[in-house]
Formats: sequence, C-alpha cells, structure tokens
Amino acid sequence: MRISIVGSGYVGLVSGAGLSEVGHHVVCMDIDAKRIADLRNGKVPIFEPGLEEMLMENSRQGRLIFTTSINDAVEQAQVLFIAVGTPPDEDGSADLSHVLAVAEAIGQQIEKPLLVVVKSTVPVGTCEKVSERISKELERRGLEIDFTVASNPEFLKEGAAISDFMKPDRIIVGVENEEAEALLRELYAPFNRNHEKLLCMDVRSSELTKYAANAMLATKISLMNELSNVAERVGADIEQVRNGIGSDPRIGFSFIYPGAGYGGSCFPKDVRALENTARQHGYEAELLKAVEAVNNRQKHKPFELLSRHFKGQMGGLKVAVWGLSFKPNTDDIREAPSLILIESCLEAGASIRAHDPEAGEKASRVFEGQAGFEVFADPYEAAAGADALVLITEWKLYWAPDFRSLRESMNQAVIVDGRNIWSPEVVRRRGITYYAIGRP
Ligand SMILES: NC(=O)c1ccc[n+]([C@@H]2O[C@H](COP(=O)([O-])OP(=O)(O)OC[C@H]3O[C@@H](n4cnc5c(N)ncnc54)[C@H](O)[C@@H]3O)[C@@H](O)[C@H]2O)c1
Repeated sequence: MRISIVGSGYVGLVSGAGLSEVGHHVVCMDIDAKRIADLRNGKVPIFEPGLEEMLMENSRQGRLIFTTSINDAVEQAQVLFIAVGTPPDEDGSADLSHVLAVAEAIGQQIEKPLLVVVKSTVPVGTCEKVSERISKELERRGLEIDFTVASNPEFLKEGAAISDFMKPDRIIVGVENEEAEALLRELYAPFNRNHEKLLCMDVRSSELTKYAANAMLATKISLMNELSNVAERVGADIEQVRNGIGSDPRIGFSFIYPGAGYGGSCFPKDVRALENTARQHGYEAELLKAVEAVNNRQKHKPFELLSRHFKGQMGGLKVAVWGLSFKPNTDDIREAPSLILIESCLEAGASIRAHDPEAGEKASRVFEGQAGFEVFADPYEAAAGADALVLITEWKLYWAPDFRSLRESMNQAVIVDGRNIWSPEVVRRRGITYYAIGRP
C-alpha cells in the first residue's frame, strides 16, 4: 500500500518505520526542513531503541522516503496519516492548529480519492473538523473528490515504541464507512496475524478511547502517589502495600508504582485536554482535576525530601541528579519531574550535577546560560563531591550502583530515591542517609 505520514516526530517516525518494515511504501513528511535533511542523512532526531536501524534499513530498501513536500505526501498516498503534535493551548485544551493546517493543505492538494487517518491524539469531534476543512478547500477549488476521514489513535509507549507498534495490544479504528474499514484492515493485516486486534468503532468513541486510556493510567499513578503520602504519615511502607494490592488480579501490578509523578508529552496534556472537553460540554470532571493536582504536587516531592533533610538551607549545596528524561529509554524531557527538581534546587541556591544516558543534551538546552547546571557523562562523576544524590528516572544502569564508592566520593552521603528502586536496608547499611517515596 502507498501510505503517507504527515508529521515525523515520535509517532510519525515509529509508524513510518513499522509500516515500511512490513512492506508498505511510506512517505514521511514534516515541515521541519532540518529534521528531514537529518533523516535523509541517516540522522534520527529522537532516541528510541531500535528506531534508527529500522528507519535506515527501510529507507535503503527504497520503501521509506522523507520529504518536506505536502504535495508529494498527498499525491502519492492511498492512505494519509496525520501524526502532527497537539500541544496544550493556554487553557489546557488541545491546540488543533497543526492538525487543521494539515487538513487545509490536503484540501488544497488532493486530486484523487484518499483515506485520511487522524493518528494524533485529538478531542472528540476533531475528525469532523478535519473533514470540514478538506471539504471547504475542495469547494473553493470547485472540485468534488471522494475522501474519508477516520480515527486511529496511537498507543505506543516511548522507550518501547517499536515493539508496541509491531505487536500492538489492540488497534483502535474509528470509521464511518465500510470501504475505510476494509482499507485499514488490509493496511494493518501484518500486525494482526496472531489474533484479531483491530477494534472497529464509531469515530467519536475512537477519539475518546485514547483519552480514556491515558486518563485511567494517570489516575492509577496519582492514586498510588496519594497513598504513598498517606503511608509516609502513618508509618507504613508503600512498597509493601503495593505488593499487597497488586496481587489482587482485579488491581494488578502494572502502573501502581509510587514515585516522583508522571511527565512526558502525553499524560499531563491529555488529562488536561479531557478535563477541558468535559467542561466544554457542561461537565466538571472532578476526578481528573484531582489526578492532575496530585501529580503536580508529587513532582515537588523529591525537592521536599531534600529540603527537609537540609532544614531548608540549600544554598551552596551540590545536588547530583540521576535521570533527566521523563521515563527510562527515551530522551524526551517534556514535563519531566527532573525539571521541577532542578528548577527548585537552582532557585534555592544549590547547584546541579546531572547525568542521563540520553537526555543530557536536551536538558542542557533547557538550562542553557543558567549558572549551576552541569551535565556529566558518567553517573559517578556527577555524584562526586555532591551533598546529595537524587534519583529521578529509573534507567537500568542505576539499579545496582556501587553504594560504597558513592559514599566515599560524595561530600555528604544523602540519597533521595524518587522511584523506590533501592532497598532502604542495603543503602543504609553502607552508611548513607536514605529517603524514598512513602517508605520509612
Ligand atoms: N509521543 C508519544 O508517546 C505519543 C503516543 C501516542 C500518541 N501521541 C500523540 O501523537 C501526536 C504526535 O506526537 P509526537 O510525540 O509524535 O509529536 P512530536 O512533537 O514528536 O512530532 C510532531 C511533528 O509534527 C511536525 N509538524 C507540525 N506541524 C506540521 C505540519 N503542518 N505539517 C507537517 N508536519 C508538521 C513537527 O515538526 C514535528 O516534527 C500528538 O497528538 C500526541 O499526543 C504521542
């Protein structure tokens, strides 16, 4: 099949890699000329395990090309995916300007029948708006061309995006007609071999499914963080509680880790956008508001633990930070809890010695020109001479550190474990003062 993907970010590139891998011919388009030039030169602008190899191999095989021309993308496609960003607007609602700009461009370029598939996360009703924009442009051109707009939200997780795309739990498709459904079934058939994963529904339900999934996951995290704060106050250990509740199959172990809050480009904005959609339809989503408020507070928790230890006297201290990305295996730092910790430390007069396997460069750009922020290539170098070490992102390389050497090289042996990955006994046995989330 001939497929075009407009927007070559995390979702666009992973989709482009996955769809070309199974034999489709794919055009990845973006308005960012540097991004496309880099991709053509074999440079992938984001870190995602396995992505670079897959993109480059399929591009070598001639099944995947990169372009800045929307004209080429529209002209060559039977199916065109919209995978541009939908960042939060000032009021928290999803900014649809990129999606609608693409719709307009499609309407200006389209010459033959086309299935337009909205993969970006968009509020209910957006596919209708996309359809209206295309029709308006066609009307202006005095043309009648058959096109359909379908919804196909993406559920990949950054850090495991390739395997999520190649072996999805489910493929949600919102369609209004049988031809569109048949085309999408054909397109996704290679991913559907093991058992039926394609769930067809109406467009509005498909659009809402994406928000419902992220809202559910964010709620689990915030509830667990709420419980960790209760545990801290009543002298219970949230990790024992986690084991106790996770073993109930109705609850399960996934997504109930207490920590420094969720970040990333999806949960924060999607919870806010859903809250906003509800409000626009006359409903106050109280639970979603609480999920967001608990998360915002939780992001301050590591700093709070630090500040409590140093009795509010943080001026002149050196704080080592392990992990900057919002979660392991990605270089994405959007809304990462590390940013809140770093800002708070700098504001309190402390300096930061940071390490991250992939996100150092992106974080350096955020804090460029600010004195007291330095990124190190080695985690032990970052910790050397520090008055405290805070773990914010649980990258695998941090799981079994040499605590003895940390204690010897740090100026003060104080550790805040923002993800509860270490054993309090083990760390304390090494003579280190240890704080975790919701643990005595
Ligand atoms: N990142 C994720 O983990 C993830 C997962 C599921 C869904 N989503 C959703 O998918 C969408 C895309 O997210 P992302 O993380 O890939 O975003 P991103 O910011 O990484 O990439 C978006 C790309 O779109 C390009 N773009 C913007 N306007 C354009 C236009 N008019 N024409 C062509 N290209 C244009 C940008 O230059 C950018 O490269 C969002 O709605 C997001 O919520 C993201």
